[in-house]
Amino acid sequence: MVVPSMFRSRRTPSGGGVFLEMDAAKAEARARGLEVIDLSIGASDLPPPSEALQALKQAIDDPATYGYCLKSGTLPFLESATEWYFRRYGVWLEPRQEALCLIGSQEGLAHLLMAVADPGDVLLMCDVAYPSYFGAARVAGLEAYLMPLGEGLLPNLWAVPEAVARRAKAVLLNYPNNPTAALASEEFFVEALKFCQHYDLLLIHDNPYLDQALNPTPSPLALPGGRERVVELFSFSKSYHLAGFRLGFALGNARAIESLEALKAPIDFNPYLGIQCMGMAALAIPPERLQADARIWAGRRSAMAAALAEQGWEVPLPEAGMYLWARLPPGLALDDLQFAKALLAQTGVALSPGRAFGPGGVGYVRFALVQPEAVLRQAALKIGAFIRSAEG
Ligand SMILES: Cc1ncc(COP(=O)(O)O)c(C=O)c1O
Repeated sequence: MVVPSMFRSRRTPSGGGVFLEMDAAKAEARARGLEVIDLSIGASDLPPPSEALQALKQAIDDPATYGYCLKSGTLPFLESATEWYFRRYGVWLEPRQEALCLIGSQEGLAHLLMAVADPGDVLLMCDVAYPSYFGAARVAGLEAYLMPLGEGLLPNLWAVPEAVARRAKAVLLNYPNNPTAALASEEFFVEALKFCQHYDLLLIHDNPYLDQALNPTPSPLALPGGRERVVELFSFSKSYHLAGFRLGFALGNARAIESLEALKAPIDFNPYLGIQCMGMAALAIPPERLQADARIWAGRRSAMAAALAEQGWEVPLPEAGMYLWARLPPGLALDDLQFAKALLAQTGVALSPGRAFGPGGVGYVRFALVQPEAVLRQAALKIGAFIRSAEG
């Protein structure tokens, strides 16, 4: 008989795994006096819009913002979110029924899975994926079915065995992607919607990186049939560099949004009103400002890929995102975790080992380009020297 351990449910994820190991390794490197160049966490280093910070400062001086914020209090924020979506994708959503305020998209996703699926249901997700998806599936008691990535770093949904798809409740996608930085075309999403219609699934699109592409990226919610099948999650962490403030929103299918709202009701009271004011000011900034940031990310992607190539490591150059995703150079007797730990211990450069993103990531590393180009070049020089010493 299996005796469950005290104070720990079967759904509680087991620790932070690889990220905790890397965190300890970073602390150890710093304690030894090494200067750490941290390219392991996707926390943007760019400045938030000053209007957003100003709006928050103003709110703090207004005692009317200090209380609990119930649903009706979020309406101005939800209206600005749906107006933003209309400006962006040309589809009007009903703010009261098709939008919900989130404490970041990570919170939204974990609760959405609990709200729309029952323990034992299957969640179709990609191998590799943002690590919190694995924990979120587990907390919701779901069985994660991992779809391998094929051409274009996209999954082939129709390759999911029919018996598995019939047990599924939702498909979880994320483009532009973390960790691969891959993009998905509109055609891909049209096909994904067809698949979801065929098996009666909810299509969840986690979309925090939409502003890190030079050209507009598709939103499945805006496609024909999207409002019947899609919930899309948006975040202020990557577009507006406000990760620590914890703000996001969900848009999409009214029934799924209603379930999410009902599930969250006994758990939280929405973010502080001042943070919502901050978000409204951020959503109002002109698109040119977002484009300027997108060019910074593009410049960093090119600079880092070129600097690594100079060191003899050719890595794919993605068209979007704040990451490079690369197979380890051939001929090294190190796996991705050993590589990341030894690189950190010897040079202070911290990367994420690919296995943190799923079994498909073994043998890969992810670079988060959250440092200026000059620092990225410095990191590439150190990486080159490390690889040569590891080979020799
Ligand atoms: C794919 C993906 N979704 C969600 C998040 C977290 O977003 P938020 O800060 O809004 O919770 C991240 C953060 O790295 C991410 O990569």
